[in-house]
Amino acid sequence: MSPRKRVIGSEHIHDARARGMLVIEVLANDIVTDQARETAKRVGIKLQSGPLEKPTPIRIDGTTNVQRGLYRRSPHWMAPRRRVEPGSSRRLGKLTLIGGGGGGVNIAHLGVNGDLAEQIMLIDIVDNLAESIALDLNHARGISRSQTRVVGSSDLARVTGSDVIVVSAGRPRTPGMSRADLISVNRRVIRTIGNSIKLHAPNATVIVVTNPLDEMTVEMLNTTGFARGQVLGMAGTLDGSRFRYALARAANVLPQDVEAITLGSHGDEMTPIVSKARIKGQSVERFLSVEEVQRCVQDTITGGAQVVSLKKTGSAVIAPAHAVIEVIDHIRGAKSGSVPISVMLNGEFGISDVVLGVPCQLGMGGLLKVDEITLSDDELVSLRIAADAIKHRLSNQSH
Ligand code: LAC
Repeated sequence: MSPRKRVIGSEHIHDARARGMLVIEVLANDIVTDQARETAKRVGIKLQSGPLEKPTPIRIDGTTNVQRGLYRRSPHWMAPRRRVEPGSSRRLGKLTLIGGGGGGVNIAHLGVNGDLAEQIMLIDIVDNLAESIALDLNHARGISRSQTRVVGSSDLARVTGSDVIVVSAGRPRTPGMSRADLISVNRRVIRTIGNSIKLHAPNATVIVVTNPLDEMTVEMLNTTGFARGQVLGMAGTLDGSRFRYALARAANVLPQDVEAITLGSHGDEMTPIVSKARIKGQSVERFLSVEEVQRCVQDTITGGAQVVSLKKTGSAVIAPAHAVIEVIDHIRGAKSGSVPISVMLNGEFGISDVVLGVPCQLGMGGLLKVDEITLSDDELVSLRIAADAIKHRLSNQSH
């Protein structure tokens, strides 16, 4: 008897990508829709004629066995290892970083050392700045042995052929400034860059880092006219890291023992999600008083400003660079699961027509899906307040 006919549609491809798969087995009787083929191409899934060889069963290594045995005898909590499907991670062809300030330099440095791409193109309009950083990074490759080639340029047209473009160009804050104070000056920067991306790299996934983050992500969407899934704002991975650090410090545990995310805006209306935060797998109230948790929330919201006020000449660059790499790792399949990203909302969480940080699944091509997790009523209200504040700021400065 021949096997049952399956119709493979676009939704199967999205589902497979969300589960971290890179290959889908297509049997002789299967029908694959044209849209599914297109989606597969866009998100980087290979449709392979089957039947494929079955994978060999996973063997548990000795260390994990010992850890599990110990855990059974004395159930102290162990940080879970992040689950990644073997072989699901891919190296990018071309990663372009626009902005040769501290953010761009640190992203480039982490990117080269992590061998994330065949080529990292660093672009800054200041003559020879990107070239000098590229040369410096390439000189280090004699020691690091990284295979990632770094190129520097002051020409925005060099975005051509990028898989992913990270935009960190623009003015940073100085002490006393809010991120929102940068709207009018950085909007012009984003428009110039967005126009070049639209013209020269229409298939790239764009990650916006320039502040004010949510507003500049809207600006990038408007300038490029790209689909919402192609333009992502990086904020939640940074604010989440700050929140986990604050909780870990208050509870006197390691950051790896803390699971917590931050949603909403990358500004005063930021929403660290206390209801879902866990310390050693348990709710935060088991370790910290309500006041201590509130102090961690405040510490997270003011984290960026604390760095600015100590540094005086600019904003944080190291944690933001790690946070960008985390987004890229989700795009290229080196990390799986939900990650907080600022995206244009289409009714998710009851919010539309504004960019806000929400949990997302990513893949090659950008956003796969927004994860509408259950939030407390207070957290939902806080997200809506953030949405209104961003809309208000944008409409007040619309020109
Ligand atoms: C920060 C800036 C980069 O939060 O927005 O540090």
